[in-house]
Amino acid sequence: MFKRFALLAVLALAACHHPAETEAKNGRIDQARLLAAENDPDNWLAYGRTYAEQRFSPLTDVNDTNVGQLGLAFSVPLDTNRGQEATPIVVDGVMYFSTAWSKVMAVKADTGEVLWKYDPKNIGAKGAHACCDVVNRGVAVWEGKVYVGTIDGRLIALDADTGKPLWSTVTVDQKEPYTITMAPRVVHGKVIIGNSGAELGVRGYVSAYDAETGKLVWRFYTVPGNPADGPDHAASDEVFAKFAGKTWFGKWWEMGGGGTVWDSVVYDADFNQLLIGVGNGAPWNQRARSDGKGDNLFLASILSLDPDTGKYKWHYQVNPGESWDFTATQQITLADLTIDGKPRKVLMQAPKNGFFYVIDRSNGKLISAQPYVPQDWADRIDVATGRPVEKPGIRYADKPYFLYPSGLGAHAWMPMSYSPKTGLVYIPAMHAPITMVDDEHYERHIGRWNTGTHMGAPPPPEHAKEAAFKGWLIAWDPVKQKAVWKIERQSAWNGGTLATGGNLVFQGDDHALFHAYDARDGKELWSFNAGRGVMAGPITYRVNGIQYVAVLAGYGGSMGMARPAPWMPTPPPNGVLLVFKVGGAATLPPVPATAPLPFARSSDSFSEAQLAEGQKWYGTYCSICHSGPVNPNLPRSQMATDAKAWNAIVIGGKLSDYGMISFKPWLTPEQAESIRAYVLELAKEGAAKEAAAPAAKS
Ligand code: HEC
Repeated sequence: MFKRFALLAVLALAACHHPAETEAKNGRIDQARLLAAENDPDNWLAYGRTYAEQRFSPLTDVNDTNVGQLGLAFSVPLDTNRGQEATPIVVDGVMYFSTAWSKVMAVKADTGEVLWKYDPKNIGAKGAHACCDVVNRGVAVWEGKVYVGTIDGRLIALDADTGKPLWSTVTVDQKEPYTITMAPRVVHGKVIIGNSGAELGVRGYVSAYDAETGKLVWRFYTVPGNPADGPDHAASDEVFAKFAGKTWFGKWWEMGGGGTVWDSVVYDADFNQLLIGVGNGAPWNQRARSDGKGDNLFLASILSLDPDTGKYKWHYQVNPGESWDFTATQQITLADLTIDGKPRKVLMQAPKNGFFYVIDRSNGKLISAQPYVPQDWADRIDVATGRPVEKPGIRYADKPYFLYPSGLGAHAWMPMSYSPKTGLVYIPAMHAPITMVDDEHYERHIGRWNTGTHMGAPPPPEHAKEAAFKGWLIAWDPVKQKAVWKIERQSAWNGGTLATGGNLVFQGDDHALFHAYDARDGKELWSFNAGRGVMAGPITYRVNGIQYVAVLAGYGGSMGMARPAPWMPTPPPNGVLLVFKVGGAATLPPVPATAPLPFARSSDSFSEAQLAEGQKWYGTYCSICHSGPVNPNLPRSQMATDAKAWNAIVIGGKLSDYGMISFKPWLTPEQAESIRAYVLELAKEGAAKEAAAPAAKS
């Protein structure tokens, strides 16, 4: 043991070119190793396993004949019931992963023994800038360092051996509502990181930092700034001066414009380019953002940039004049496909708008696009121009439009996978319509949600049938552009996928099951009850000749905050890392049965005007975080019975460090009190319902 240790140390030293380079023995990934990750199936070296982000593992030890004997090898408890969305990285027997609030852990990949834990000690109030929970989708590992982006906008390098921070850089203006939830990617010694916040109003960009020192190397803004401020002195200046700046109108900069890069960044070695998925506009409503005119580049686009300089190469815009929260941030997957008898180097994306895009990655030209879910916003995507042929009325200018898919996505952050063996892409897809209503009297709420639309309008009666949310696991043939098989789920929010050489597809769901399907026909071969929703991307790897399958379990994200989940224990249990192997016989500690808290009861009385006002403010500021199982259910909160305590929290900011900020900038104490009135009314209604149907209580 000692000898091996010493040898590794010598090798690690020999690999040091730079005096500042860490001497960490763990996490030895360099450019050559990442480029060859395809041939290293024992490890899971990067977010999507390889740079191509196919999330396909060639391992076959666990396969369609023995997956029925898959059992829990071990589990590692996590410290919160907030959303868990990370894909772990496995390097030479050590697993690194991030958890909610951008914490990081390293564990032995074959036993779960915790090697170290790191807490970045976020500015807690920044949690309130997260549109969709304080989640984190993963770390990157490179030359003995582990990189994580934090919810308060920092990029931090940790020593892979100890978890001690080596450097930390603030990548955003922390006064603005920026957050980071995405996994960093590393290429050519640079850590690439974007940010989130377009719902609240920010200007999007992506940056490259020196992996050794944390110094900024380049930055590319995805939307133009205020012309009065002059150029940014950034890699994006040239392209905005040339043509992209001319696609904007009005005073978009007042709300930042949006275009955040919050998830997908892929390195394409074939063409030495970074492919970057760009998000929606801020505000969503193009009328409120850009006088309803212009393509608004580079919103909802896939951008190709030079990885060393950040210089623009090409772009493909999925939704010109974006107005629905249709992002192109969804996973970008690289593949070599044979199309019409010819080998093509393509990228594939299943963005929120419901079309599956196959794009030539040598030049960004569209090859084909077909809907992978039912959709009602476009007649088709014109292959010659690459532009959608929009249906009349979808810009909801004159009247509301019942839209599906919606900004919740036909596909959100949940990773998809592509098996070169079956030729199929496994997409976690959803049907989640929203009625889009123009907010004619749009007022900006700096630091809170700003969409320029009314959300939560009921579906028009003629669409009642289509209004129910549901989800699918779709096995999609990207060459023929059609579904080969599908599994329907009762709720929309379904988990990331992993495809393997053992003819398997793994996927979790929000009803707490983790499934294995036959990759060829979708037959369910195995499932495991995880006791909590399983949404993250699963991985597989091998240590000492044993293949493991791992996934983080833990509900949350936008639906976890904004949609009730009556099937879930209340409150939901904390997250857990689950690791499986054939013959695994470990058991999960049981989830304690919890009864929901009683509804708040109070003899305080309020006027009709107060109730109506409270309903409005509740809808504007509170429901987005307090309607799901993750955060306190306000009608069941005892704080609602106590005007003083309520005021101390909602106006006084008593729970600010936990992400429940003071609403003083937006609400007067009287308005906050009107929300309490409305919440107590909801409590009354809830209690009456519960009394009428006591059996349905759980
Ligand atoms: C960005 C998400 C977010 C928004 C928006 C939000 N809250 Fe909260 N709220 C939280 C979180 C998280 C907690 C739990 C904090 C903790 O851990 O104690 C919380 C806790 C509370 C509590 C304490 C409940 C209890 O029983 O402990 C009250 C009261 C509350 N919120 C009221 C409101 C009101 C009123 C609004 C709208 C004006 C609102 N919140 C908007 C995230 C949010």
